[in-house]
Amino acid sequence: MAAPAPALELDRASRSFERQGGPPVHALREVSVEVPAGGTLAVIGRSGSGKSTLLHLAAAIDRPTSGHVLVDGRDTAALDERARTRLRRDTIGLVFQSFHLLPHLSVLENVVLPARIAGDPDAASRARARELLDRVSLADRADDGVDGLSGGERQRVAIGRALLRRPRLLLADEPTGSLDDENARSVADLLFELTRTEGTTLVLATHDASLAARADAVRRLAGGRLVDP
Ligand SMILES: Nc1ncnc2c1ncn2[C@@H]1O[C@H](COP(=O)(O)OP(=O)(O)OP(=O)(O)O)[C@@H](O)[C@H]1O
Ligand SMILES: [Mg+2]
Repeated sequence: MAAPAPALELDRASRSFERQGGPPVHALREVSVEVPAGGTLAVIGRSGSGKSTLLHLAAAIDRPTSGHVLVDGRDTAALDERARTRLRRDTIGLVFQSFHLLPHLSVLENVVLPARIAGDPDAASRARARELLDRVSLADRADDGVDGLSGGERQRVAIGRALLRRPRLLLADEPTGSLDDENARSVADLLFELTRTEGTTLVLATHDASLAARADAVRRLAGGRLVDP
């Protein structure tokens, strides 16, 4: 039997940004990396080294200037806009440093939102959302507004939302970057615990060495290139 495709593969992927009146910025330079299905990868590096650029390529939010990015074996550059939207919706979950919750919706409605957008059946989605809220210890806050939540609680809601539709690939950009040490640790515990029990692949970008050390593999970016960690 053929081996399953890696959940994520970058093959000499580069991303440059043109600038008015100046040389282009080479945000990512010929980066090759493979993340097996179910694996965890931490991408570390200083500010401006290209971590978010790499995650945007992995999320099919952006495309490489050259080289290839394959998600679940599919080359994102070969997909049209509709197919890329579908790939993002059905295969990828995203967690950001600043949570990106919708303030006028309840905790439960925030978690259920991706299913509403995808047109999934309502009852099953709400049941799944409640299950995830239970897993992130926020079941009793389901009907509260998100404005009253602490940073750690907001990130736990965001993790539930990202996992709602059982993505194969969870991408997290500085998921603990806005949290104090204690909350950072509990969010990290949840991320690794949930990705393991859900069988999801996790790729995270972080400045936090203790978070990175928990991943199966750690790769360091410097000036858009992979260097020795
Ligand atoms: N849309 C854009 N237009 C121009 N330059 C960009 C754009 N996006 C990123 N860059 C540049 O690409 C480089 C890498 O940026 P990126 O956001 O990937 O870094 P990062 O490692 O995520 O940094 P941080 O740790 O501060 O989040 C930076 O020099 C940045 O200014
Ligand atoms: Mg960044």
